[in-house]
Amino acid sequence: MIPFVDFKAQLRPLEKEIQAAIRRVLKSGWFILGEELRAFEEEFAAYVGTQYAVGVNSGTDAIHLALLAVGVKPGKEVVTVANTCVPTICAIAATGARIVLADIEPETLTMDPASLESKITSKTAAIVPVHLYGHPCNMEEICEIARQRNIPVVEDCAQAHGTLWQGRKCGTFGHAGAFSFYPTKNLGAYGDAGAVVTNDPDVAAFLRKLRNYGEEKRYTHVTQGFNSRLDEIQAAILRVKLKYLDEWNVARRIRADWYRQGLRSRSVEKPVEHGEAYCIYHLYVIRSPYRDALQSHLHDHGISTLIHYPIPVHLQPAYRKLGYREGDFPNAEKACKEVLSLPMYPELKKSAINTICSAINTFDP
Ligand SMILES: Cc1ncc(COP(=O)(O)O)c(C=O)c1O
Repeated sequence: MIPFVDFKAQLRPLEKEIQAAIRRVLKSGWFILGEELRAFEEEFAAYVGTQYAVGVNSGTDAIHLALLAVGVKPGKEVVTVANTCVPTICAIAATGARIVLADIEPETLTMDPASLESKITSKTAAIVPVHLYGHPCNMEEICEIARQRNIPVVEDCAQAHGTLWQGRKCGTFGHAGAFSFYPTKNLGAYGDAGAVVTNDPDVAAFLRKLRNYGEEKRYTHVTQGFNSRLDEIQAAILRVKLKYLDEWNVARRIRADWYRQGLRSRSVEKPVEHGEAYCIYHLYVIRSPYRDALQSHLHDHGISTLIHYPIPVHLQPAYRKLGYREGDFPNAEKACKEVLSLPMYPELKKSAINTICSAINTFDP
């Protein structure tokens, strides 16, 4: 089988560095909120280009806590898209605010600014654009809509470590940017981890309290908080991997080019990179009206693929209660029926991509 991702291939050249980092933490005897996290936060903020980064337990928590930090609460509304990974929705639900969905642009599959605008009400307390697959949203238009109405933007950057829009990193446009370091992400820990980036010192300070039981100083709790910390071992591992992130992103872009050159089937559409975008191809997602047949054809040829995501949020059993119906988000619904993610990781061999492309090119629906 050609695997979808290959963690071992990434680990091989890094093994010594990773082991040294883990050993350093074990020897320090300090496992939570220590020197490794402080250093990682500084290094990650510098990478993204924000003043602050606050490490938390996961990308879901990063979105949840960032929303609380910008003032989202029960009775308010938060707008995001109908075709996101469900944790975006879980994070909004955890704030107690109402989840409001917008449709996506058919080419980039990211938030459609016009649809967003039509969903804003006097109760809208935040907008969560999702830079899906590593393709940036149209941040110029989204931020303009938000700015005119003074609504904070919390970017979901879980799939966009190093993605640029108009030459600027995703995570720097909104009031806060939420990152996931889930193992499969372009920057992945060996467990759960996440971070919020921001230029707002009050948001950063509030997040530091929220993630640690609302504690301001030892045993003084000034707000109701959570246990959501990025631990020292994961921080030390992420510090090693962060040094390679740009190199890995370039390797992904090279592989996206190989796919682009190799795919010739008229039954598939290749992913579009908007003229203002620099994509980091967290996923390489093609579209086909014959998606399910193509997926089994590829499976028969020993090629692993996945679908991100087969069911839009409003048609998920858990979110029927939002009151939307089939047909409400035509672009998101169509995408969910057609998208197919091909194997994509920095170490993926050209010969494997050639095999995948010929299997697709010989697919006869
Ligand atoms: C778009 C998106 N948002 C949020 C998340 C949540 O991140 P985590 O799994 O670290 O909680 C993920 C990843 O799973 C994601 O892909």
